Amino acid sequence: MGYSAEVVKSVRDMFEKKRADAENLSVLHLNEVALKNSEILSINKALSLTGLMIYEAAIKGPEGLEERIEKIKRENHVLIEAKQQLLCGLGYPEDYLDIKYSCDKCNDTGYEGINMCSCMKKALVKEAYAQSGLGKFLKSQTFKTFDLSFYEEGEEREQMAAILEKAKKYVSDFGKPDKDSNLLFVGTTGLGKTHITTAIAKGVIDKAYGVVYDSAQNIIRAFENEHFEKDEKASREVQRYFDCDLLIIDDLGTEFRNSFTQSCIYNLLNTRINAGKCMIISTNIDSTSKLRETYDDRIFSRLIGSFRHFKFVGKDIRIAKMKNGTK
Ligand SMILES: Nc1ncnc2c1ncn2[C@@H]1O[C@H](COP(=O)(O)OP(=O)(O)OP(=O)(O)O)[C@@H](O)[C@H]1O
Ligand SMILES: [Mg+2]
Ligand SMILES: [Zn+2]
Repeated sequence: MGYSAEVVKSVRDMFEKKRADAENLSVLHLNEVALKNSEILSINKALSLTGLMIYEAAIKGPEGLEERIEKIKRENHVLIEAKQQLLCGLGYPEDYLDIKYSCDKCNDTGYEGINMCSCMKKALVKEAYAQSGLGKFLKSQTFKTFDLSFYEEGEEREQMAAILEKAKKYVSDFGKPDKDSNLLFVGTTGLGKTHITTAIAKGVIDKAYGVVYDSAQNIIRAFENEHFEKDEKASREVQRYFDCDLLIIDDLGTEFRNSFTQSCIYNLLNTRINAGKCMIISTNIDSTSKLRETYDDRIFSRLIGSFRHFKFVGKDIRIAKMKNGTK
């Protein structure tokens, strides 16, 4: 698995556009120069034939090949000088007609030979961040900014330190066979559930896996729009919930519930669990009995049996930060 087809497609499109833009700009420059001195057109045409001339020289056989190539090189050199002189004479930089790709390692193709260029790898990560649903939080809610001093020294802080360690290990183990696939983060509001989940998401995206984050409310809305409105965008969204390597369902329990929504959640959890795909769920429902009351047996059984539970403790950090002005 890896980044979703949408991520890959939009990066490919982006690279194609970058290449086309660079090439179009050089054509624009050529036309601009040609208006002032049309000789540039014939020089440019002759230069563009160099490759073909080398090819023709080569297929004539090995005899005299070196001399033929040397001759082409000399002619080429003369043409380049003529071009540069013409450009300089008109007050343009020497490279005004060159195609200026943004990456000179891959000329914006995204590949160096058969290897993916580092610029494309970066673009994929960036696009995966953008499409994950976490946006700007990926920068602010990281493992580094997860501050244990917000939790009371002693048992509370130790418990949260263990969760932080577990979260980091979840990232480093992601993709390995024998690991915990599914985590359930439980706790009252403002204790860092979403923060730590976002940090995990970033780590997993950086390892080139596809991550989708959404709130339970949005997930349900997408299912409804797909089912009742036959909305295509919603249908693609729903597909992403099933397909991604890691699905993060935030705020489970805040969604409107009826038999339709319960069957959607059941289907999503069950399909992903059967396919061995990972999930992290966070919820404010902080007791097993309340979970049982909220969800039907088939969902409850999976939330209990297929997820490792972690209880977040402490006082609302959202409020603490607001009070001391660090928000
Ligand atoms: N340990 C922490 N260190 C620094 N900031 C934190 C920590 N935990 C939470 N925060 C910050 O406090 C705010 C609330 O945290 P977060 O959204 O993760 O809480 P939550 O448990 O998801 O709450 P809710 O149940 O309301 O969704 C966020 O701005 C988050 O970045
Ligand atoms: Mg939250
Ligand atoms: Zn490149």
